[in-house]
Amino acid sequence: MLEYSTPTQEAALVVEHVVKRFNVAADPWWRRWAGSHKATSNHAANGQSANGHDTPPRLKARRGKELVTAVSDVSFSVYRREIFGVLGPNGSGKSTLIRLLSTLLLPDEGAITVFGLDVERDEMAVKRLINRVSVEAAFFKKLSPKENLLYGARLYGVSGKEADRKAREILGRLGLRESSYTSPMEDMSRGMQQKVAIARAFLTQPVLLLLDEPTTGLDPRSKLEVQAFVNELRDTHDATIVITTHDMNEADALCDRIAILDDGRIAALDTPEGLKRRIRRNGHEPTLEEVFMALTGKELVEKDDVTDFEPEKVLS
Ligand SMILES: Nc1ncnc2c1ncn2[C@@H]1O[C@H](COP(=O)(O)OP(=O)(O)OP(=O)(O)O)[C@@H](O)[C@H]1O
Ligand SMILES: [Mg+2]
Repeated sequence: MLEYSTPTQEAALVVEHVVKRFNVAADPWWRRWAGSHKATSNHAANGQSANGHDTPPRLKARRGKELVTAVSDVSFSVYRREIFGVLGPNGSGKSTLIRLLSTLLLPDEGAITVFGLDVERDEMAVKRLINRVSVEAAFFKKLSPKENLLYGARLYGVSGKEADRKAREILGRLGLRESSYTSPMEDMSRGMQQKVAIARAFLTQPVLLLLDEPTTGLDPRSKLEVQAFVNELRDTHDATIVITTHDMNEADALCDRIAILDDGRIAALDTPEGLKRRIRRNGHEPTLEEVFMALTGKELVEKDDVTDFEPEKVLS
């Protein structure tokens, strides 16, 4: 396992040699024939796993499919009270990693433990410690944010009165109108729904908070408020936070350490300052953006809208 910090710190999250593959539709013959498809390093259709071993039979590509390795031999630890950032271009495996950490997906290889609990063996116990915010947050769409949030809080043992007070405070700070608080979720824009998802995560004060692009598509003021909440949760509740973001300033300002993912692999893992030090030359002070481009050869564009947004589950 890779160690990047002092061993005296207590690990909240340990990820060891994790691999996750997906079966996806293979390219049509004409595209392969035309040669327009460039095989990328994360395609494992050749039966080789990330660490060079033969792919186990159950992981071989199905007929008409090819295996894509979304997360490829990833190892790291996140320490208690750390704000840990994951940066990567589109398709680099950030959301897959967050889903693995939150027990929504199981690793094909490797192990993940949350405060010593194995995500596979101790799934329910791990679930109680974590909360995840992502663009696919599920709500009862016919119900209002108030009803959704109070329901969610009750599941975590927070009283209705306390939840209502805190929900109003959080949503007020995020700029959600008072009238929207009691209107059906289905009438809200995606950005507004995202704010409710963020409020739900902060209401329940999880020990480990997983934030998959929580601020993408939010207005600048709301972004800053979300960052303030993240800091508050760490400072006042000892929470550990893993956050993916496309906003370099956000990563620089907020994260204690950052892992740069490229094609499912960790290209670098360090403090923002440590990452910049790697490419600092002749007094030029590099930005995190320059570090990212130097390490991956790719640009990290902020998404105006979330392209992989899946319609939320309609539960009512
Ligand atoms: N459920 C799935 N089925 C098949 N392939 C998947 C699935 N989820 C992710 N992938 C593939 O795994 C790779 C990593 O995707 P992932 O969504 O984790 O990337 P990401 O870094 O979150 O990208 P983005 O910045 O666009 O959100 C991509 O090639 C993607 O197509
Ligand atoms: Mg993603």
